[in-house]
Amino acid sequence: MNVLFLSPGFPTEMTDFVRGLAEVGANVIGLGDQPEHNVPEKARRALAAYYQVSFSRPESVLETAAAIGERVRIERIESLWEPLMILAAQIRELLRVPGMSQVETVPFRDKEAMKQVLDAAGIRTPHHHSAKSVDDVWKAIEQIGYPAIVKPIAGAGSADTFRVNDRAQLEKILPKLRHVEEVSVEEFVDGEEFTFDTICSEGRVLFYNMCWYRPRPLIGKTHEWVSQQTVALRDPDVPYLAAGKEMGHQVLKAMNFRDGFTHMEWYLGPDGEAVFGEIGARPPGGQTVDAMNFASDVDLFRSWAEAAVHGRISQPLERKFNAATVFKRAIGEGRILRYVGLDRLLAELDPWVAAVELNPIGALRRNWKQQLVGDGMVVVRHPDLQTCAEMADRIGTELQIIAG
Ligand SMILES: Nc1ncnc2c1ncn2[C@@H]1O[C@H](COP(=O)(O)OP(=O)(O)OP(=O)(O)O)[C@@H](O)[C@H]1O
Ligand SMILES: [Mg+2]
Repeated sequence: MNVLFLSPGFPTEMTDFVRGLAEVGANVIGLGDQPEHNVPEKARRALAAYYQVSFSRPESVLETAAAIGERVRIERIESLWEPLMILAAQIRELLRVPGMSQVETVPFRDKEAMKQVLDAAGIRTPHHHSAKSVDDVWKAIEQIGYPAIVKPIAGAGSADTFRVNDRAQLEKILPKLRHVEEVSVEEFVDGEEFTFDTICSEGRVLFYNMCWYRPRPLIGKTHEWVSQQTVALRDPDVPYLAAGKEMGHQVLKAMNFRDGFTHMEWYLGPDGEAVFGEIGARPPGGQTVDAMNFASDVDLFRSWAEAAVHGRISQPLERKFNAATVFKRAIGEGRILRYVGLDRLLAELDPWVAAVELNPIGALRRNWKQQLVGDGMVVVRHPDLQTCAEMADRIGTELQIIAG
């Protein structure tokens, strides 16, 4: 099968999806805006051909795609990176390749359109209004009340997302949103935050996963001292999470999703109610696919590829562990000087540490506001959730990365 893959070398996770495609026998043609020599080796090895394009000039990408389509019969067009999803749909329409069209893609990109589809299907979304001007925001707040969330309609990585508890707070954040064309004003939903992630083929859910965010991402995004955790759960079938799982399946149906990875976020209210957060027609970011792999000792990059090319997943996907990714942020500015507590923790938590990928000594510390992964991560895993959470909290509090 000839697969056209958008951006095989960036973000880094893409290299593994491309590798997976080649492993299941696909002939992968890459389209990316990196020069070929900058495409990581893992992806380059898996590609039958690569064309450099400029994604900021969609017209020229369409031209290149059309030229490729003249020479080879493209059977699938894959893009697992949010900013390129609409472009991928345009190429599908141009080359008449089956898969998500632009009209089907929009509700996955535009959070207001998304909620309209789900509201129509009777799914519990946060009360919401979209606003294009300061006046509209004030009008929306009158309807919704405090506390509320104000966020971009097509946001990612919690960028420009604010909780406002009263009038004064809203006044303060409005200038910060000046560059955002359209915002969504939402009821603030209290509770815990989870994901529901799937790999589908022809509308069937072949695999699903749930992650537990500790703490809620907006809190982690607001306070530098927090070491954000994503915990891929060993048992997403417990009654406690049943409402979210049921909602997840309903959402996929309402969105008419058929093939590929999905990543949904949802809230579990104090009263047990599941409330929809958002959904992407793509895998979760933040190295979450790795966490899911560590939870089951599997290769979901390859499973996704097998589902895409052959419509099945043949490797057994038995969940063995809860796997927690703990993201660390350096203390201090400048270059990484040393790690405090790492050797002791690795010895004490043995054999439950699955991965350590920290920003190396001597490297510049990273901007924690811009990068979820911060200065790296440690993955711990354990069959028992409480034990896993305790180990993750020890990485959070006892491991320090010192910069200076
Ligand atoms: N209505 C809401 N009620 C409570 N919290 C919310 C609400 N909307 C957003 N948040 C908080 O803000 C975070 C980011 O919002 P959301 O997931 O909608 O945006 P995003 O920028 O696409 O996020 P990301 O790319 O980080 O997943 C959520 O994870 C949640 O913690
Ligand atoms: Mg989100």
